[in-house]
Amino acid sequence: MTVETESNSINVAIFSTAEEASREVARRIAGAVNRRPDGVLGLATGGTPVKAYQALIGMYRDGKVDFSKIRTFNLDEYIGLPADHPQSFRHFMDQQLFQSINVDPERTFVPDGLASDVAQACSQYEAMIRDAGGIDLQLLGIGHNGHIAFNEPGSAADSRTRQVALTDETIENNARFFESIDQVPRHAITMGIGTILEAREIVLLALGEGKAEAVKKMVHGPITEQHPASLLRRHRNVTAVLDAAAARRLA
Ligand code: PGA
Repeated sequence: MTVETESNSINVAIFSTAEEASREVARRIAGAVNRRPDGVLGLATGGTPVKAYQALIGMYRDGKVDFSKIRTFNLDEYIGLPADHPQSFRHFMDQQLFQSINVDPERTFVPDGLASDVAQACSQYEAMIRDAGGIDLQLLGIGHNGHIAFNEPGSAADSRTRQVALTDETIENNARFFESIDQVPRHAITMGIGTILEAREIVLLALGEGKAEAVKKMVHGPITEQHPASLLRRHRNVTAVLDAAAARRLA
């Protein structure tokens, strides 16, 4: 199903279950790797992509995809957590994907949450993406408040990789991964919306009824920095892969 909007269109692919939607995302990622084996993937963390990464590992084990020449850039990282902290996004990626496929660890990049000069680390990250030739396929999740990566409502459409403060809502949502809410970092480094929109293809995965309202606003609401995911409609090649629950409020 393609939903036409006042400016551009966003492709919406709806599957009955989270498993099927996740398998579709894995197929799309594997497709991008097979089309360009030395290409660049933009990857995401959170609860949403876990099943998609499991499906991708399954495809790798079945010999359907080879990551040996791929480079990866993750969207974001908490500030203040060392790479080996159980809740760091670097740790998540190692555990959920990198350790189980044949990607070269030296070619996997996550923003450095311990950088002493954060501004410099951010511009370096942008330069590394550029030098790698740009991102072929960027995987995204969506926050309940419409955030993409840690670009919270109000983030500029042309924002670049930078330090951001997390909203109270995001801190509360992410507290489930920590022992207590006090341990959730208050700041992060995130690719900007401008950075994300430069990817050649974007695949946004949303699962569960809790995302239904955010998905509806992304597809049908005004294109506004107050709902960052709506800005994806300015991109020519975005697909929202949804399970039925996340698609529930689409007309
Ligand atoms: P989640 O987070 O996958 O843990 O729901 C998604 C996001 O905030 O982008």
